[in-house]
Amino acid sequence: MEEKYVIKGKNPLVGEVEIGGAKNAALAILAAATMTDETVHIDNMPDERDTNALLKTMEDIGVIIKRNGRHSVTINASQIRNEPIENDQIKKIRASYYLIGALLGKYHKAEVAIPGGCEIGLRPIDQHIKGFNALGARVCIEHGLIKAEAEHLVGSHIYLDMASVGATINIMMAACMADGQTIIENAAKEPHVVDLASFLNSMGANVKGAGTDIIRIKGVNRLHGSDYTIIPDQIEAGTFMMAAAATMGDVTIKNVIPKHLESISAKLIEMGCQIHESDDAVRVVASKRLVGTHVKTLPYPGFPTDMQPQITTLLGVASGVSIVTESIFENRFRYVEALTKMGANIKVESSSAIVNGVERYTGADISAPDLRAGAALVIAGLMAEGFTTVDNIEYIERGYENFDEKLRNLGAQIEKVADDSSLQKFRLKYA
Ligand code: EPZ
Repeated sequence: MEEKYVIKGKNPLVGEVEIGGAKNAALAILAAATMTDETVHIDNMPDERDTNALLKTMEDIGVIIKRNGRHSVTINASQIRNEPIENDQIKKIRASYYLIGALLGKYHKAEVAIPGGCEIGLRPIDQHIKGFNALGARVCIEHGLIKAEAEHLVGSHIYLDMASVGATINIMMAACMADGQTIIENAAKEPHVVDLASFLNSMGANVKGAGTDIIRIKGVNRLHGSDYTIIPDQIEAGTFMMAAAATMGDVTIKNVIPKHLESISAKLIEMGCQIHESDDAVRVVASKRLVGTHVKTLPYPGFPTDMQPQITTLLGVASGVSIVTESIFENRFRYVEALTKMGANIKVESSSAIVNGVERYTGADISAPDLRAGAALVIAGLMAEGFTTVDNIEYIERGYENFDEKLRNLGAQIEKVADDSSLQKFRLKYA
C-alpha cells in the first residue's frame, strides 16, 4: 500500500503552528545561487520534495551542497558542469526551468528538460522564451529539452502578456548578468518574486521595482556570495488559516508576514471568522457556521490561485451559494469530484465553481489530484464526520513539510500510514 493520510474529523484545531520558508521562493533562490562561483548560505530552507529534488539535481551537475541542519544549506557552484539537465527528478518539478534563466545569465547557455509540476493546466512557457529571445538568446525545444544560447545577453524592454510568476523570475535572473538595462513590464508581484529580487541584490545584482508592475534590472559582470534567509510561506500559512476556520478552531499561525495574507484574511472575515494580526503572527478564530462568499483568483495582491481549493472546500459547507472563479489556471477544480464523494454540492462550469453549501461532509476514501488540492482534501477530512483517507500524498509533500505532524500538534486526528494494519489501528484508536 502506498502511503496515505488517515483522518478522523470533527476536532477543532487549537494552539500554535510555526510556518516554514516559502517553497516557491526557495526554488527560485536555489537556482539563482548557481549564478555565482562564491559560496552562498541560505536559511529557512523548507525540507520538501520539490526543493530537495532541485538540490539533488544541482548536486548532479557539480554544485557542492552542504546541509547545515534541516533548514540551512551552503551552496557552491564554482565547479558546475554546464551540461544538459534531464534527470528524472528535474522532469517532475516546475521550477527546473529556473536553471535556464540562471545558467543562461551566467554561461550564456543552458539545456534543461521540459518542466513537470502539478497538472493544473497546460502551463505554456512562451513568455519565458519571449523574454530570453528579447535578451538576445536563441531558444528551441528539441528531444524534450529546452535549449537556450546567446553570444551576448543584452538588456531589453519586455512586456509580458500576463503577469507570469515563472517568466518574471526567469527573465529577472538572466537579465542580472546581461549588458545594460532590462525593463520587465506587467511583471508578477508575488512575494516570492520580491524575495528572489532581494536575494539577487544581496549577491550584488541591481534589481529595482520588484513588487510593482515594472522591474528594472541593470546587468552586472559578476555576482558574489551571500547569506540569506527565505521569507515565510504565504500559502502554507494560508492553508493553516483555512484549517483553523474549517474546524471551528483557534490557531495562532506564527512566523508569517501578515501583509502577504491580507487577501486570505479578508475572505475569512467575510465568512465570519475573527482574525487577530500581530507583527509576525495571525490568529484565526471561528466559532459559528461559516457564511458563503464569492472568490476570484487573481495575481498578487489578489486572492491566490494556490489557496483556491482550500477556500472552496470551506465554502462547500458554508451557508448559502458561493461562486469561485479560477482565473489563473484552467484545470484547478479536479478535487471537486472527491468533495462530491464527501457530500458536497458543487457544479463546475468552465472556470467557475458554483458551490451550494451543504450542512456537513462525511468521510470517504479520496485521492489528492495535486499539491494544493491535496491539502484542501485533508482539510475536508478534518471537517468530515467519520474517517477519511487521502492517497497520492506525495503531491502534498511537494510543498508542505511535516503537514500531518503540524496538524496533529494542533489536535487533529491524522496519521500517515503505509499498511492496512496501521490503518486499522488508527480506526480502532479513534472509533
Ligand atoms: C507559479 O507557477 C507557482 N509555481 C505556482 O505554484 C502558482 O500557482 C503560480 O505561480 C501562480 O501564482 C512556482 O513558483 C514554482 P505563472 P507558474 O507563470 O510560474 C500562464 C504551487 O501549488 N502562462 O504565474 O507556472 C499560465 O499558464 C504552484 O505551489 C503562459 O500562458 O505560474 C497561467 O495561466 C502551482 N505563458 C498563468 O500564465 C507563460 O509563458 C500564470 O502562470 C507563462 C505562464
